[in-house]
Amino acid sequence: MKRFYIETVGCQMNVLDSELAAAELISAGWERLDSRKGADLVVFNTCSVREHAEEKIYSALGRLKTWKLEKPGSLIVVMGCMAQKDKDVVFQRAPFVDVVVGPGRIGDLATLVAAAASTGKQQLAVGIDRFQHKTDRSEVKESFRLYDPIRLPQTRPHVFQAMVRIMFGCDKFCSYCVVPSVRGPEQSRSPKEILDEIKTLADQGCVEVTLLGQTVNSYRYREGDKTTRLSDLLAMIDGVSGIRRVRFVSSYPTDMTDELLQAVRDLPSATPYLHVPAQHGANSVLKRMRRRYTVEEYRDLVDRIYSTVPDAAITSDFIVGFSGETEEEFQQTIDLVRYARFKNSFIFKYSVRPGNEASRIYEDDVPEAVKKRRNNELLAVQNEISAELNRSFLGREVEILVEGPSKREAKSVAQEESLYAENEQPIETSVETSSAPSNLTSLSDLIATAAPSGTVQLTGRTPCDRIVVFNGLPELAGTFQRVKIVETAPFTLFGKIITK
Ligand code: SAH
Ligand code: SF4
Ligand code: F3S
Repeated sequence: MKRFYIETVGCQMNVLDSELAAAELISAGWERLDSRKGADLVVFNTCSVREHAEEKIYSALGRLKTWKLEKPGSLIVVMGCMAQKDKDVVFQRAPFVDVVVGPGRIGDLATLVAAAASTGKQQLAVGIDRFQHKTDRSEVKESFRLYDPIRLPQTRPHVFQAMVRIMFGCDKFCSYCVVPSVRGPEQSRSPKEILDEIKTLADQGCVEVTLLGQTVNSYRYREGDKTTRLSDLLAMIDGVSGIRRVRFVSSYPTDMTDELLQAVRDLPSATPYLHVPAQHGANSVLKRMRRRYTVEEYRDLVDRIYSTVPDAAITSDFIVGFSGETEEEFQQTIDLVRYARFKNSFIFKYSVRPGNEASRIYEDDVPEAVKKRRNNELLAVQNEISAELNRSFLGREVEILVEGPSKREAKSVAQEESLYAENEQPIETSVETSSAPSNLTSLSDLIATAAPSGTVQLTGRTPCDRIVVFNGLPELAGTFQRVKIVETAPFTLFGKIITK
């Protein structure tokens, strides 16, 4: 049996794509490995969102060349957003690559690999470039193929959690972004296909699903005179037996309807976690970014979220150092972060993406050092708010879905929380304690000293997506438990299981 290894960078879309690609290969008779060692095929799932991500991929590919030379007959696949963006340029920069496959062609992966192996010829399958070819819109759409993916339980880190794509592509065209060109036109999957997939997952033991889309709340599926929106879809999924929790990412601010917020409030399975990237806090910058709202409208949205769903946890993405960003404009982002009280924010330094609107009309004129300073400044404000919000959990009881033994030290859990496999957040370096007994050196010690035998340090998540570290038996993974919060840090809650 031939063996493969997949390496993934990028966002949750890519994490899901790697899982689906693995299912394709396993169904075609391949075996999956956890490392490159012993593999006959290495699949590299790539991201183009920032230049830094791409540079890292090309240098990693350079290192793979040595691996390939040592193992005759082995194959290398480059898939994902950089495959779509660079197309045959990947073969020019890395001639030892065998297959280049875009995110709209994952369903063809096993066939392409077989063709490369039998013919020895390089294989390329990508969608039609939205900008370069003035072809019929439907032709472009078809070249980014919607397909009904194979779902295999062994391809997921936990059988009880799964991501489900409800829409492909993006039509928002924010001026700085590469996604609409690499993921193709916005296309929503049919509710029937989505529900069938979720039922399959539930039969496999899945209790929690995360619905994915670049602008997931723009979901809209028309059939005759009936239109299904995300709020309708959530109601349908709520009826699937076995599914206890549903969340969705990422939401676009102007598509957050009252119906959707009411669905989140009223449906037992819908969780009060809303990732609604604001990107910036100044109208002038939002305009240059071509975001389709003003900061006043975003603040109204925040008010609307908290008044409809009082226990909502809102998270955001921000770009600092976008073309022309002045100190005053940057301060307005800080003001917005203070106003919205986000659970956390992912902060990125602006990176020019060739070909898009911003790269054509604006100069990347904010010096790197200024970008870095603004990034850290904004992060410090956000961390303060995250810590404050988490402190309000002290003494409270929460229901968590237990994920399993915590892989790393409790203090690095923040990294695992990341929505983006590749991002620029500094790691939480010190675990802040609010009332740790003075004879204990750290929270891990506190947890460890209280641990009855047979228990290990476990992690779980609250409905609002907060990570909870506690002691318990490993067999609890995949179950829902009530936990009392005894300590807090900016990205982590520490709890004790409540025994009945
Ligand atoms: N579709 C999602 C985001 C996809 S990209 C949404 O709209 O919410 C993830 C994040 O990367 C974006 O939210 C943005 O903050 C950041 N990003 C995108 N393009 C970027 C660029 N050129 N430079 C820096 N950050 C960028
Ligand atoms: Fe990019 Fe904007 Fe689309 Fe998000 S909404 S993927 S930031 S173009
Ligand atoms: Fe990167 Fe593609 Fe996601 S560019 S952030 S992997 S959609």
